[in-house]
Amino acid sequence: MALIDSHGRTINYVRLAITDRCNLRCTYCMPQSGIDFVSRDDLLSYEEMLRLLKVFKSLDVSKLRITGGEPLVRKGILEFLEEIKAQQIMDGFYLTTNATTTLSHVERLVNAGLKSVNISLDTLDRQKFIDITKRDQLDNVLASMNAFYQSDVRIKINMVVTKGSNEADIVPMAQLAEHRNIQVRFLEEMPFNGLNEMKTQFMTHHDILEKLKTSLPNLTSKPFEHGSTSQNYTVEGWKGDVGIIASYSRTFCGSCNRLRVTPTGQMKTCLYGKNDLDLRGLLRDGSSDEEITQAIKHAVANKPVDGIAAERSRFSTISESMATIGG
Ligand code: 5AD
Ligand code: SF4
Repeated sequence: MALIDSHGRTINYVRLAITDRCNLRCTYCMPQSGIDFVSRDDLLSYEEMLRLLKVFKSLDVSKLRITGGEPLVRKGILEFLEEIKAQQIMDGFYLTTNATTTLSHVERLVNAGLKSVNISLDTLDRQKFIDITKRDQLDNVLASMNAFYQSDVRIKINMVVTKGSNEADIVPMAQLAEHRNIQVRFLEEMPFNGLNEMKTQFMTHHDILEKLKTSLPNLTSKPFEHGSTSQNYTVEGWKGDVGIIASYSRTFCGSCNRLRVTPTGQMKTCLYGKNDLDLRGLLRDGSSDEEITQAIKHAVANKPVDGIAAERSRFSTISESMATIGG
């Protein structure tokens, strides 16, 4: 029984944010003082998440991404992932992480079914890493990245491009893909920084492409993949490739196949939209799986056509942190 929205899109991908907590403080994501982190009781429990994933499975949702906050800071995450595998709820999982604490867990993650890891990394310069994240963790990230690479895990690097901060890092970051079969992706900055403010100046996907072309004139664009958010490019002679994600311009909504569940169990059918369904409420008020299924179908049917329409449908302007949504 597939989930199909009123624009004909099949929704088969869930992004589950398991915590809003993080050990970094990336400027574009949250203030240095952090955000009002959710208390434990307000988070979905692992049992609740397992039940929810089974419901999603019955709706033919086959792709699972674990995100946060930083997912590895939540206690019990490895056991949770192992339980998903033991109960054969999903066929493996994808992970988005800042990779500061993953080094010693690579093998366990792989054994639990890790298919591919997205590592958030915005610079290769130690001081700039500290400026952006407020923590001195670059070496741990790079060591983790190498360990994932040695284990043959597919790696994507996500770099948020922030005007006036890491523009000069675009080309060196791209070069990570020269001798390694990884994908380095550049994201437009989005207004989810935990503050009620939008930058007036930012780098668009066009600006990012121009910047890449200055050093890599022979970039060749690849065909756009259905359900993808990135426009990818190959570079002649390179093992890996690069991609640009127009996360603010929202050029890719037409083939969107995803929904999100926040750490407090709110379902969002669009990153830019409001909370569409209180799954936690349903999980805790005695609703049956069938009732939850119907509620999900109803919410998905009303998925906004794109991120622009979703933003318009909100009750208030964007003020939340990306850590409360999961990227
Ligand atoms: N704009 C763009 N990307 C962001 N991320 C976090 N906050 C923002 C933002 N304001 C990214 C992280 C991570 C992913 C989950 O979302 O860097 O790669
Ligand atoms: Fe943590 Fe990711 Fe937010 Fe950075 S962007 S503070 S790594 S959740």
